[in-house]
Amino acid sequence: MAIKKRILKMSHYKPPLEGRSERDYLLLDFNERTTGPSPKVKEALKKFIDSGRLQVYPEYGDLEAKIAQYAGVSANRAMVTNGGDQGVDIICRACLDEGDKIIIPFPAFAMHYQSAGIQGGELLEPKYKEDGSFPLEESLNLITEEVKLIILCNPNNPLGSSIPVEDVEKILDKAKKKEVTVLHDEAYFEFSGITTKDLIGKYDNLYIMRTFAKAFGLVSLRAGYLISQENNIQELLKIRGPYDVNMAAKTAILAALEDIQYMKDYAREVMEESKPKLEEFLKEKGIFFYPSDANFLLLKVPSPQGLINELKSQGILVRPKPASDGTAAVRVSIGELKDTEQFIRVFRKILDKEKQVE
Ligand SMILES: Cc1ncc(COP(=O)(O)O)c(C=O)c1O
Repeated sequence: MAIKKRILKMSHYKPPLEGRSERDYLLLDFNERTTGPSPKVKEALKKFIDSGRLQVYPEYGDLEAKIAQYAGVSANRAMVTNGGDQGVDIICRACLDEGDKIIIPFPAFAMHYQSAGIQGGELLEPKYKEDGSFPLEESLNLITEEVKLIILCNPNNPLGSSIPVEDVEKILDKAKKKEVTVLHDEAYFEFSGITTKDLIGKYDNLYIMRTFAKAFGLVSLRAGYLISQENNIQELLKIRGPYDVNMAAKTAILAALEDIQYMKDYAREVMEESKPKLEEFLKEKGIFFYPSDANFLLLKVPSPQGLINELKSQGILVRPKPASDGTAAVRVSIGELKDTEQFIRVFRKILDKEKQVE
């Protein structure tokens, strides 16, 4: 079997998906919505199933123009992808040859490493600082002609912390001079409001990845997009297949974009009600968390796996993720206020029990 050596050396990215039923657990482990997408999505999908067109190849019509309109960029600057992950993969395939250097500040989202690894990229990993801030100087110093790609996750997953757009521009500026591509991962844009889309015109080395998986709640359908200058998009379309995004995803995206308010209401509740409530509780208990602009918090606790197990036994799933120093921490997704209240109730009980044991 002539599989490439570097693939043989890699491991699968196997997120813990088994048995995570929302009937048994409150799912705070994958940064998903804790409620479904807009009812318009369900209606549109039912109509699509009944249309008798399941046997016909997908066609996207003006989907990309609609996405571009939502994103606030001109029509030819957006390209739909099969989830945000495909966007990352397409950029890695477009930019990296074996042995090319790639900068991915640590920690980062697992699929960034996976896609870079498949292409044989040689990883450079400046470390986020202890307070969750971005290693700007170190990253700038690493940009040389040998680097082909930089992936900036903004806000960072798993930390939640963000990079000021002025600092992203400093990276873009140096990267442009050295002919390095920058992928700006905006998976959590709807929660953070942070975007570099206004820099697209100025920087032809900038690509933005976004997804309908998070605030829009279409994760099971796999729906994302890339934004860049039109010439770049034309190149990327050579890599994405003509049918990679299926019609159910297309149908759902269009319906979700007809009801943007539904998404906004959810994002507002998460960021303005739920997240402050959780932060207040953690402060009261003296538990360290990174400042977050996304729908999750990364907590440092003495026994991360113990807490994860204890929460699971009480019906709540959360994830182990690395802190900025590489030690284990606990990432908790934030849903509606009632979800956070449930989380706090259970966590408080666990902490009280631990105190009694001491
Ligand atoms: C930072 C980041 N980028 C990209 C993605 C991929 O999104 P999708 O589920 O649309 O592939 C995720 C999903 O968790 C993410 O957290």
